[in-house]
Amino acid sequence: MLVSAAEMLRKAKEGHYAVGQFNINNLEWTKAVLTTAEELHSPVILGVSMGAGKYMTGYKTVAAMVKAMHDSLGITVPVCLHLDHGDYDAAKACIEAGFTSIMFDGSHLPFDENLAKTTELIGIAHSKGMSIEAEVGAIGGEEDGVIGMGECADPNECKMIADLGVDMLAAGIGNIHGVYPPDWKGLSFETLDAIQKLTGKMPLVLHGGTGIPDDQIKKAISLGVSKINVNTECQLVFAAATRKYIEEGKDQKGKGFDPRKLLLPGTIAIGDKVKEKMELFGSVDKA
Ligand code: G3H
Ligand code: ZN
Repeated sequence: MLVSAAEMLRKAKEGHYAVGQFNINNLEWTKAVLTTAEELHSPVILGVSMGAGKYMTGYKTVAAMVKAMHDSLGITVPVCLHLDHGDYDAAKACIEAGFTSIMFDGSHLPFDENLAKTTELIGIAHSKGMSIEAEVGAIGGEEDGVIGMGECADPNECKMIADLGVDMLAAGIGNIHGVYPPDWKGLSFETLDAIQKLTGKMPLVLHGGTGIPDDQIKKAISLGVSKINVNTECQLVFAAATRKYIEEGKDQKGKGFDPRKLLLPGTIAIGDKVKEKMELFGSVDKA
């Protein structure tokens, strides 16, 4: 059974580690993340962006695939199916489709509107046993068409959203989606520290996990980050492994063109990347 993220993140915050959210795009992605989590005995969150939901022909298809695969593989670790950076309509659609968690990203809205819509969605999500993530202070860069301005969050606004009763809070602290530019100044630990002091036990979420140096990841966890989102890094290793397979001409030998063979190196590369991140985040053996 898929679960909400509330309990796994409460434990992560208490235990000073973070649970990885890995975005999925298709069957291979899902299988790689689920099997790695099971192998490492780690809780995991499967993130689905609005773009990926559309690509997979809708949230109902995603929920059905994930649930069936979870059962067929005999997964025993806690797995949460979470909408990533959803707007109001997507959040409602995922609640109906059988997701176990949603992120309502109202960070680009006027703060009062973010507050009001988050409040309404908390009520609906909690009445169905689902967890909900909110965002304050837009994460920089672009992810699947969702563009963020990259400003640091106001800790007082974070407290106001946290007090509404969300289960996890994403706050902009200088993090950016996608690959970090060479002149990136790093995470603002001053902002993170101020947010954590005001929001207490609230599990904090670090988006833009791709390419953040390990020491900054560890420091962020020590300052209350309990969920870390990784997307681009899995796409990069998938593309590189697939490219290598083709450039080495392996697709032209035997039945190497068979999609099940062609997609295998990329799928293995995703699993290896997820393993590396779970070890770094400290979630291994925490299921
Ligand atoms: O919401 C998902 C992420 O924040 C992932 O960011 O693509 O930079 O790893 P990333
Ligand atoms: Zn994000």
